[in-house]
Amino acid sequence: AKQGNGVKGLAETGLKSVPKQYIQPLEERMDMQNVVTQESIPVIDMSKWDDPHVMRSICDAAEKWGFFQVTNHGVPVEVLENVKEATKKFFGLPAEEKMMYTKENSLTNNVRYGTSFVPEAEESLEWKDYLSLFYTSEEEAYAFWPKECKEHALEFIKGSELLIRRLLEALMEGLKVMSIDATKSLVLTGSKRINFNFYPKCPNPELTVGVGRHSDVSTLTILLQDDIGGLYVRGIGGKGWIHVPPMTGSLVINVGDALQIMSNGHYKSIEHRVVANGSNDRISVPIFVNPRPHDTIGPLPELLEMGEKPVYKQVLYSDYVKHFFNKAHDGKKTIDFAK
Ligand code: SIN
Ligand code: FE2
Repeated sequence: AKQGNGVKGLAETGLKSVPKQYIQPLEERMDMQNVVTQESIPVIDMSKWDDPHVMRSICDAAEKWGFFQVTNHGVPVEVLENVKEATKKFFGLPAEEKMMYTKENSLTNNVRYGTSFVPEAEESLEWKDYLSLFYTSEEEAYAFWPKECKEHALEFIKGSELLIRRLLEALMEGLKVMSIDATKSLVLTGSKRINFNFYPKCPNPELTVGVGRHSDVSTLTILLQDDIGGLYVRGIGGKGWIHVPPMTGSLVINVGDALQIMSNGHYKSIEHRVVANGSNDRISVPIFVNPRPHDTIGPLPELLEMGEKPVYKQVLYSDYVKHFFNKAHDGKKTIDFAK
């Protein structure tokens, strides 16, 4: 049952130092000397989402930073609060109940509770537990998702649909891709996954990581974080690490590898990481907006018709994701798989 309570259970034993499998090699630990405080990722007010200046600022942020925060995004603040409460409720369950959703026990591959990122492939583990839910349909969600969070997870997914559409409309228009027809929309947003991350308070935050550096394989990620902080993104040109400060009611948006590939490199999927925290538990809830596993992704035909040379080749999305998980996050760029 100890295992079923994950890193949270471990942290709650009151241990004074992290077990050695959580100690990261020096180069994977966050060196606070590399934190850049003079710059910060853009904050975009979405209330005038169809104003050309706002649409331009979305594209600029996606080109330069790959990350931005949005306010007045249309997802009700109660929905966000409820999702955070549901996350606490789920991870607060007794180990036996969470164990029902481990890889070995889960009734479906679409529901997975676990600890660390790719335990099979990683030498050092991350100081984190998670619940990952692949969204296929409301019916499946009602049948299989844990009752502590299914209702609020679905509200968050539904509540963010319009925001996702508006962001992608701006981003496509910025590439001069003027129509998002049904086919394009499916390749951009055909599948979704919601993760609930729980980063327990850690006795030696400087020795381990919450999440090691990686870039997302998504088209876009819509991230809800609580008020603890600890998410860092690579600065422009790969220089330093920039903190993404918690802003109550806002959402963090980032470009994933699939959009970098489809935009032929115009929009950037930027490396990011989460530090462990010595004083508080932290939670975050990303929605990954993805192509469907059987979709083939590559630079959008409109860009090539305008004379751009393809920077990436066509890849089957499920192969891309498989490649990402096989390599874990060892610092190498998954995106080179599409070159
Ligand atoms: C992640 O990028 O995997 C997690 C982000 C976060 O917890 O803020
Ligand atoms: Fe991520």
